[in-house]
Amino acid sequence: MRRGLPRPTSLLVLLLGGGALALTGACSGEDPPPSSTPPATGGADLGTGGTPDATGGAGPGTGGDATGGTGGDATGGTGGGDTFPQWLSETGLYADGAMGETLAEGVERFVPRFPLWTDDAGKDRWIYLPPDTQIDTTDPDRWVFPPGTRLWKEFVRDGVRVETRLLERRPDDTWWMVAYQWNQDQTDAEARPLGVQNASGTPHDIPSEEDCRACHEQSPARVLGFSAIQLSHSGEGLTLTELTREALLTDAPTVPMIPGTQQEQELLGYLHANCGHCHQDSASASARTALRLWLPLGGLAQANGVADTPFYQTTVNKNVSQSDISPDGKTIHIVPGAPQDSALFLRVSSANRGTTYQMPPLGTEDADPSFVTLLESWINGL
Ligand code: HEC
Ligand code: HEC
Repeated sequence: MRRGLPRPTSLLVLLLGGGALALTGACSGEDPPPSSTPPATGGADLGTGGTPDATGGAGPGTGGDATGGTGGDATGGTGGGDTFPQWLSETGLYADGAMGETLAEGVERFVPRFPLWTDDAGKDRWIYLPPDTQIDTTDPDRWVFPPGTRLWKEFVRDGVRVETRLLERRPDDTWWMVAYQWNQDQTDAEARPLGVQNASGTPHDIPSEEDCRACHEQSPARVLGFSAIQLSHSGEGLTLTELTREALLTDAPTVPMIPGTQQEQELLGYLHANCGHCHQDSASASARTALRLWLPLGGLAQANGVADTPFYQTTVNKNVSQSDISPDGKTIHIVPGAPQDSALFLRVSSANRGTTYQMPPLGTEDADPSFVTLLESWINGL
């Protein structure tokens, strides 16, 4: 359920005028990165901004199932200009006739070390790399995936398999980005490029294609959870070590060392995964704030502690850039020992959910309680 958005946002837009408009505009990608969107999906509206619904998923008046939008002949699979398949069963995730049960050959599971918070939904993720291809890891921060790469992410909420998202790199180097909503019998899932609110009787919202792009297109790699940092663990699924052993990377990356105490590593990793894609040099938000929450691998090698990271250097005792729309008029991102005086803390705390201040601005409604506690205790200890 969308507790705050979009209605309270509309109200705030009225109250705050320019500031609020600026927020929604930027979050939906006021500066759309170069990429072509599949024709009939409405994704090309990235630059509209200014309307409260720009961050609100399916747009005005939705709440039901947004069925339309994929265009008439979404057969998928061939050519560069066509649109994604209409059904998940056509995307190659599961073996023929084994939807939801047996993965297709060549599909492998992976688990990012620092997952994105989405209101506690259960998730599973998989990747398919075309045979005899490698990921170009020349730049360890910006992996380049071969055409034909597919990644999926499945969401289970309250015991219901709700949606499975697809990212696919096309031959013309664009990406398909779309979510499939599972039917009631859980036998297949259908493309929902406009998103769905409160999908399948759960409080879970399926993001629109426009929202997918607002996050995934901020990063040159497009893929956010399959990277050197995210796969530097020894847990389940494909890991950095495994990828290196199977010769799937052009350049074997050194295993990233995140600086700081264990608490700080968790904090830095969380910020990298949940905020870094929008708060890095290549993202459209970088024109509006000096805040940097991405962990650059190159920089990490020399970092002695948390104080050497972009996060620390752009937040601790640093002025906010958007002081006119900062919560409670706070002007410093992080004030040592004082979370309630820290603008960054107020943006992520539950008190500001559903307001224009909320960070992240989309993809979540509830504050993540363990992150809020972690950040609060770290600021208190500074
Ligand atoms: C609020 C930002 C945000 C939005 C909106 C969003 N994603 Fe993601 N997505 C992420 C992040 C961050 C990850 C990596 C961390 C994780 O998986 O927990 C990710 C992971 C994924 C993955 C696994 C591959 C990868 O990049 O790691 C797929 C597939 C995916 N998203 C597809 C989509 C699609 C399709 C949509 C729209 C229907 C969408 N996402 C909307 C941020 C977002
Ligand atoms: C989908 C993109 C996106 C994500 C994800 C995101 N932000 Fe933002 N953020 C923005 C944009 C755009 C702005 C500028 C507009 C504004 O000030 O509200 C912003 C502004 C901010 C500001 C105020 C900056 C200033 O200098 O005044 C803070 C603090 C912030 N974000 C923190 C975070 C944190 C912490 C996270 C992760 C928990 C996060 N953001 C995730 C897009 C994003």
